[in-house]
Amino acid sequence: MDHIRQIELSINGAAHAMSVEPRVTLLDALRERAALTGTKKGCDHGQCGACTVHVDGERTLACLTLAVQAEGREITTIEGLADGDGVLHRVQQAFLEEDAFQCGYCTPGQIMSAVACIREGHTGSDAEIREYMAGNLCRCGAYNGIVAAVRKAAGTHAAETKVEAA
Ligand code: FES
Ligand code: FES
Repeated sequence: MDHIRQIELSINGAAHAMSVEPRVTLLDALRERAALTGTKKGCDHGQCGACTVHVDGERTLACLTLAVQAEGREITTIEGLADGDGVLHRVQQAFLEEDAFQCGYCTPGQIMSAVACIREGHTGSDAEIREYMAGNLCRCGAYNGIVAAVRKAAGTHAAETKVEAA
């Protein structure tokens, strides 16, 4: 079929060549073509945040992004967050320490949003964290733990930044 496009996506620092129809979403490309199933499909309509990834460092809903739009940009998924040696990202560690998940289905998207939220500097208060995490729904009882984890990871980040700046 001549409408199939050959594209190469850069995901977590690795090149992934794939054939896609132009209508294929980044979410389906990640899960079904690149076998990276950490990014979750919830609503598939931009309303739950389960599919949140980073594209060029910005949080992005993979279900509302076409795979072809992501070509030439750097995509980071939950699989790319920990160091190569297996050391967890501080936000992942904070989620563990603060019991920030129950069913865990929303967790990858929550963590990707949390990393961006901290990077954007929107962690001045619990209210601000809640506001900037509002696009990521959690339907069970973990939400207070999520806010606590973001607060904790942001504090760690602030301390790290100070040490680096000294
Ligand atoms: S699956 Fe993308 S926002 Fe719900
Ligand atoms: S932990 Fe998020 S929906 Fe259950």
